This record gives sequence, C-alpha cells and structure tokens, in this order.
Amino acid sequence: MIRTARLTLRPVRPEEDLGAMHAIMREPRAMAYWSTPPHESEGETAEWLANMAAIQPCEGEDFIVEADGQVIGKAGFYRFPDLGYMFDPAVWGQGYAREAVGAVVERGFAVHRLPRIQADVDPRNTASMKLLERLGFAETHRQARTWLVGDTWCDSVYFALTREQWGQRTA
Ligand SMILES: CC(C)(COP(=O)(O)OP(=O)(O)OC[C@H]1O[C@@H](n2cnc3c(N)ncnc32)[C@H](O)[C@@H]1OP(=O)(O)O)[C@@H](O)C(=O)NCCC(=O)NCCS
Repeated sequence: MIRTARLTLRPVRPEEDLGAMHAIMREPRAMAYWSTPPHESEGETAEWLANMAAIQPCEGEDFIVEADGQVIGKAGFYRFPDLGYMFDPAVWGQGYAREAVGAVVERGFAVHRLPRIQADVDPRNTASMKLLERLGFAETHRQARTWLVGDTWCDSVYFALTREQWGQRTA
C-alpha cells in the first residue's frame, strides 16, 4: 500500500475492482496505445485482473489507484523493472498519473532497490511520454513493429531512468 497526498495505491481486489476497471478498459481513449484492443467483455477484464493478482512479489508489484475511495486506474511494475499505468480518461490532466507513477518509481528505487526503471511507449502517446519526461525519464531507443494490436502493428519508444539519476533529481 502506498499513500500520496491525494491517492491510495493498493493491491488489486479482482472481484471488487472488476466494474471500475472494466469501465476504464472498455474505453477506446484509455486503450488507444495499450498492448491490446479495448476490452469488449467483462470476462477479458476479469482475466486481466486475475493476472495482475497473480504477479509474484519477486516478479513485480502492481497497484490499483484510488482517489476519494474511487478506483481511477492502475500503476506499477507488471514485471520489474517495467512500468505500466493507465488512468480513467475522466480524471486525466489533474496530475494524478504523475503523483501515482512518481510514488511507484520512488518505491521501485528505495524499497525494491532497482538500479534502473524502464517503460515502453507508443510514439503517438504524447501524454505518456510527457509524463515520463516530467519524472526524469529519457528516451533510450526506438523500435518499429513491436506490438501487433488487433490487426495493426505498433512501434515502441523506450524510456529509462537510473537510480542515480533519480537520486540527483530528488537530492
Ligand atoms: C498517460 C496517462 C497516464 C497520463 O495521465 P494524465 O492524468 O493526463 O497525467 P497527468 O495529469 O499526471 O499529467 C502528466 C503530464 O503529462 C501532460 N499531458 C497529459 N496529457 C497530455 C496530452 N494529451 N498531450 C501532452 N501532454 C499531456 C500533463 O500536462 C502533465 O505535464 P505537466 O506536468 O508538464 O503539466 C493517461 O493519458 C492514460 O491513462 N492513458 C491511457 C493509458 C496509457 O496510454 N498508458 C501508458 C502506456 S505506456
């Protein structure tokens, strides 16, 4: 569990979180640059939540994010040291992603002692790249045709931040 000024990041509760997370994951805007198309059925989201719950502590650490008791998204390491995050389009632009992902990054370095944290972003995903840059991440390289989403090939921009760089920023 992580608490920030406005948010609570907590472990997933697959049954309880199904309705709120499906409402986000069926949204084309939330899923435009995700690794899969929007979820058409609750079953798809249930499977996704079950996978999130099955992450072993040595493999990764993913959180459901709540603001004022409402589920607004998720942020964490689906697999160390890879970051993944998604927020309800209804709350975009209020700095919640920055607050949540910043807390996850801090924990990744301070608690999990990761030497380096990375992220894989679709080059069209301006909001996600801006968020990473604001947290101090820098682009390392690009690769074409990394994800087949539905019947469309998508590209990747890779971002990374080392513990040393993070320490210099927060010093
Ligand atoms: C990426 C995402 C998490 C950003 O969420 P958000 O709530 O808008 O983020 P924040 O409010 O914390 O903003 C972070 C920064 O990005 C900027 N930003 C947000 N949306 C933007 C956009 N469409 N274009 C340019 N910049 C944008 C904000 O202005 C802010 O920068 P600032 O601190 O300089 O003001 C959100 O768009 C999302 O959930 N997208 C769908 C899922 C996804 O693509 N996840 C990432 C996969 S790699």
